[in-house]
Amino acid sequence: MQRRTQVAIIGAGPAGLMLGALLAQRGIESVVLEARSRHYIENRIRAGVLEQGSVDAMHEVGAGTRMAGLGLVHDGAILRFSGRSHRIDFRALTGKAVTIYGQTELVRDLVAARLAAGLPLELEVEDVALSGLDTTRPEVRYRGAAGEVTLGCDVIAGCDGFHGVSRAAIPAEQLRVFEREYPYGWLGILAEVAPSSPELVYAHHDRGFALLSMRSPSLSRLYLQCRPDEDLASWSDDRIWSELAVRLTADDFTLARGPIVQRSITPMRSFVAEPMRYGRLLLAGDAAHIVPPTGAKGLNLAIADARLLAEALAAFYRGDPALLDGYSDACLRRVWKVERFSAWMTQLLHVDDSAEPFARRLQRAELDYVTSSRAAATTLAENYVGLPLRS
Ligand code: FAD
Ligand code: PHB
Repeated sequence: MQRRTQVAIIGAGPAGLMLGALLAQRGIESVVLEARSRHYIENRIRAGVLEQGSVDAMHEVGAGTRMAGLGLVHDGAILRFSGRSHRIDFRALTGKAVTIYGQTELVRDLVAARLAAGLPLELEVEDVALSGLDTTRPEVRYRGAAGEVTLGCDVIAGCDGFHGVSRAAIPAEQLRVFEREYPYGWLGILAEVAPSSPELVYAHHDRGFALLSMRSPSLSRLYLQCRPDEDLASWSDDRIWSELAVRLTADDFTLARGPIVQRSITPMRSFVAEPMRYGRLLLAGDAAHIVPPTGAKGLNLAIADARLLAEALAAFYRGDPALLDGYSDACLRRVWKVERFSAWMTQLLHVDDSAEPFARRLQRAELDYVTSSRAAATTLAENYVGLPLRS
């Protein structure tokens, strides 16, 4: 079967769904193709912190109602080390805040809005293949519910995450890849218990990093630094809670336990592929870059890319290709600043067993500096709440 659209979007994660919604608002047609089922994409537990720009984008596309009711606005977060808590007051330092709202919820809202508007979203597609990228009439071939399809389009948006087919469709000699693997993983749990702190706690402890986050007033999300190849089976519920309690310890703090309803281990990496464009293929989100989760930026970067790409495509359809030509550069300026922040937060808070004693003292001094200097705390805060879209 032969079909046609203006923009073929590969992947229904935050980048692809947000791009589709922003394009619809600008009167541009798109088809979103997703390899997984609706249940899978709506239940994959991932990020939880939204910058104001991501919140604004949800409202702009008319998908922000549930988030406005359920999202938790946080004006600050806690850095904890040597058993002491230091609050970084985002609101006082930057005038801005972040919103705690799970990526699963955001994806549910965007899927529901797309289906309610009758816009095409094809789930569980197979054998997606891109061709004609260096022509003005690229194509996507795939197998969907109705059989083999050739989807002709003007532009392909590769929003299919780190393991997708889009980046792999670019000739290797056209891409430059920058990468750092960390000797850490995060063991993450979702637990049915009220968060033990009203704000996120980023804890540095000699035994490793720990993070207390949340999804709602009755659902906690917690993480422990572990080895990237850690065996999840070796972590009983009791071991997880005991380790969290030790690493998060502070005066006046008690960690409440509850049933663990989800657990997983995520390896940590920094990755950027440049440029984010090849001919008529534009990459957005994790398809082009990965950050370690310590700065809570992966989802926000994906949405920022989608916003820049929607603007660029709107200009392209008005007959002005300049923004599309500048899309990769505009994204990468921001991406590299966020890569810098995420790598910095990672080295600030994790324990590197191979670090020499001198480096450990420097790390302690840096924690002390960030929590005692207004200038240093402001630098952390302005990155955490989100840099401007064009920065
Ligand atoms: P994705 O969300 O990966 O979406 C890509 C979509 O494309 C997926 O639905 C996928 O199924 C689909 N797809 C893949 N291949 C194909 C294909 N061939 N054809 C069609 N569709 C395809 N960030 C944080 O800030 N905090 C966290 O705690 C955090 N935890 C994470 C845990 C894990 C396990 C992972 C992988 C990421 C985590 N992230 C976290 C990062 C954050 O979730 C991502 O940055 C964000 O999901 C990026 O959105 P995206 O739309 O670019 O990609
Ligand atoms: C989360 O709630 O999943 C979360 C919060 C902050 C981070 C990373 C993940 O830095």
